[in-house]
Amino acid sequence: MTNAKNPYNRLLIVANRLPFSAKQTAEGTELIQSAGGLVSAVLSMAEQMGQSASDQTPKIHWIGYADASVRELGATALENDNFVAHPVYMDDTTYKEYYEGFCNDLIWPLFHYFPSFASFQDSYFERYQQANGLFLEKVREIARPGDLIWIHDFQLMLLPDLVRQAIPDALIGYFFHIPFPTYEIVKLLPRTWRQALVNGLLGANVIGFHTADYVQHFLQSVTEVLSLPILGHRIVLPDRSVIAGDFPISVDFNKFNMGARTSAVLDTRNRFRDELRTPKIIFSVDRLDYAKGITYRLQGYERFLVQNPEWHNKITFVMTVVPSRDQIPHYQEIKREIEETVGRLNGLFGTIGWRPIVYSYMSLSFTELLALYTACDVALITPIRDGMNLVCKEFIATRSDDQGVLILSEFAGAAQELNDALLINPTDTQEVADAIQQAVSMPAAEQAERMQVMRRHIQNHNVFRWSHQFLTVLDENTTLKTSIETD
Ligand code: G6P
Repeated sequence: MTNAKNPYNRLLIVANRLPFSAKQTAEGTELIQSAGGLVSAVLSMAEQMGQSASDQTPKIHWIGYADASVRELGATALENDNFVAHPVYMDDTTYKEYYEGFCNDLIWPLFHYFPSFASFQDSYFERYQQANGLFLEKVREIARPGDLIWIHDFQLMLLPDLVRQAIPDALIGYFFHIPFPTYEIVKLLPRTWRQALVNGLLGANVIGFHTADYVQHFLQSVTEVLSLPILGHRIVLPDRSVIAGDFPISVDFNKFNMGARTSAVLDTRNRFRDELRTPKIIFSVDRLDYAKGITYRLQGYERFLVQNPEWHNKITFVMTVVPSRDQIPHYQEIKREIEETVGRLNGLFGTIGWRPIVYSYMSLSFTELLALYTACDVALITPIRDGMNLVCKEFIATRSDDQGVLILSEFAGAAQELNDALLINPTDTQEVADAIQQAVSMPAAEQAERMQVMRRHIQNHNVFRWSHQFLTVLDENTTLKTSIETD
């Protein structure tokens, strides 16, 4: 099954979410492929491995949780042009305590430096272990010798070691998509939990993070929690070693660059600009999350409006929040807080003919997203913490006019790569207000200078490079490739 381009049998992705959801229509079942970063990244990786539908080679196998739409079908496997999906079934209580509980009520807030939002409940950890065990069962059922098993994100930290114990020769990659915090934060986890999590990750051959800081933090935890020897980026185990490396994820530059020039996007962009009417537009789009810094962002905009009354009636902030995790109380609270703040500011500054903030709580189509990236003058991206943040990279990739200013939090992983953005501390609302002022007054030549540098960077450091570098390091840290080639 191997070929020169692809030394592995198959690519087997394991992530909490499947790459598509199912929809029942009069014609039958429609599989709606997710437009998320991971799906695009994996498709690009498969292309690189010579494993795409167009090559007539096997599709990507993907193990993920069976959401309600998939459960309704009761299928054991679902297939579209790119993927064969293998759903993991779980009862509602297990899923709730694993996903809403351990993942999103503990690890997410803790690893985004919101320890006071974290809830430590024994049952959460028990269900997390159970859920990771159910993913293992599916891996055992699906994996074949020679597969590259690529596990994703904080929902599955125990899985690499579970797979290693079950299939000692497995080739396992793991990618951590959220920030890995300093040991002071990890230490807040009960001793046995933090040991299990760090040990769980070490089942992989290579563990990827977005930034060099996250790698250092992880290595610090390995030292503190397991006292293992470390040589550079290599963690030395008795029988093998594990590499921890930084691989900043990115976007498919051409998809955004070319997509933004289609007539559908241009028409929508022009319609938006006509409807909004103000000479300047600020845009932001985020999943609903307290880590995105949306309330501070609004307060920064409020300061800007107070201090720069000449901009009243001349600027609109289009703020889109994409629904997410809204069953979890902290998410419901932040939604309420955002909506109250938007209402207060529109009430305070707005007039009959001018709304300073155009807020919507919804998902955007790809066309609308590109239209807003290209319609705006300023992208205001101010997370309190963000593993990477792909919104800013998408924005840059669409701006072939070399115009537009990026205001970016220094706490987004992407800030490590984008020095030509206006980097701000998101909780410093005066700094945010000043950055907005600087952005809306920036001469076209300076915008072009900054944008060109950032576009060159994203064009080169695109998602293909990300997957290529991850695969290269994985190849270097395993003997499997060599053994397959000599078969
Ligand atoms: C972040 C996480 C992903 C997660 C996504 C959406 O990007 O790193 O693992 O899938 O958010 O969150 P959700 O809870 O809806 O899957």
